[in-house]
Amino acid sequence: MKAESLRINEARLMARLNELAAIGSTADGSCCRLALTDEDKAGRDLVAGWMRELGLEVRVDPIGNIFGRRAGTEDGEPVMTGSHIDTVRTGGRYDGCLGVLGGLEVVQVLNEAGIRTRRPLVVGVFTDEEGARFHPDMCGSLVYAGGLSLEEAYATIGIDGKVLKDELERIGYLGDAPMLLYRPHAFVELHIEQGPVLDIEGITIGAVENLQGISWQEVSITGQSNHAGTTPMRLRHDAGYCAAAIGHFLRALAKEMGGNQVATMGKVDLHPNLINVIAARAKVTVDLRNTDEALLAQAEAKFAAFLQQLAADEGVTIEAKSLARFEPVIFDKGVAALIARTAARLGHSCRPMTSGAGHDAQMMARIASTAMIFVPSVKGISHNPAEHTGPAHLAAGADVLLHTLLELAR
Ligand code: GLV
Ligand code: MN
Ligand code: MN
Repeated sequence: MKAESLRINEARLMARLNELAAIGSTADGSCCRLALTDEDKAGRDLVAGWMRELGLEVRVDPIGNIFGRRAGTEDGEPVMTGSHIDTVRTGGRYDGCLGVLGGLEVVQVLNEAGIRTRRPLVVGVFTDEEGARFHPDMCGSLVYAGGLSLEEAYATIGIDGKVLKDELERIGYLGDAPMLLYRPHAFVELHIEQGPVLDIEGITIGAVENLQGISWQEVSITGQSNHAGTTPMRLRHDAGYCAAAIGHFLRALAKEMGGNQVATMGKVDLHPNLINVIAARAKVTVDLRNTDEALLAQAEAKFAAFLQQLAADEGVTIEAKSLARFEPVIFDKGVAALIARTAARLGHSCRPMTSGAGHDAQMMARIASTAMIFVPSVKGISHNPAEHTGPAHLAAGADVLLHTLLELAR
């Protein structure tokens, strides 16, 4: 069969996505495979097993990234694809998994057609992309690309108090392959958009050209608990009020700045968290993102000034700690253009886009020519069990991945 007429097998892709989604599935339909939990291990075992069945050479590196390599006719730098299979606690079925299982589908199609590429192909599964249990996000690809030392990553304490290295060892994925096992010639990640643009515009493929900068902070507020009925308002040092004020400020900040600025307070912990006690302590997380580095820095500066004023006004102490900070990324123009050309050749509508979410590709862009392929998310919903992309769109994305990889590996 001629390479140009190859298409991925939609039913097989769906079957693998469904089998993986069943691991960690919860009553409300979510996938819960927080990084390095038993569910993550079960997902890894399943995917690594599929890799071996497909004849890939499977290796695991010291941060737990899994790589399946298909030999080329020459032994040069490989073309790499992949993504992640860990999820947030209320994850959907496709976030990350599409990129990994789409990569396996490409391998299977090439195996069946008896096609050897010149360059080797590698499918990667990166550790802890979500950062929902262990911060920062994109941890495995960040370490891989040299942006975080193994020692620092190992020492990370999760939201449940567990240490990252212990959990890696416990699930059997502290591997012995050398770090930066393969320096890719190019890296392409297939992913659902997780936003509304493609769905609203009725377009099948996004050729992702850039990705916004991310700033994560944890803000700790220390006030004083006291009786909710007897303490006059003017005498309060209320950490709960400060948490609410932060949430309100973030919304106002994003509104005032406009453009691409987004701001979220996703997690709030109050202590003692009781109806009739003024909160003594609060811990909140803040997620700021912008495509423009200067504007993101401006948002951070405005937020810092607000915290200072809030602490003075309420008579509390406030400490802000950075959990992750990544500058916006501009992907490789050549790879993004190749994706757009490939989509057009296969008869799919396509538009250039910006990624609002963080991805392993943003770390791989530090060491390889990189871009991403997006497919629509119905109603733009993600990090939610209602996350959905129709099978035809999933298959279209995998077809574009197949032919993009073929071209890069020729
Ligand atoms: C990862 O999913 C992120 O963008 O937070
Ligand atoms: Mn993802
Ligand atoms: Mn995600």
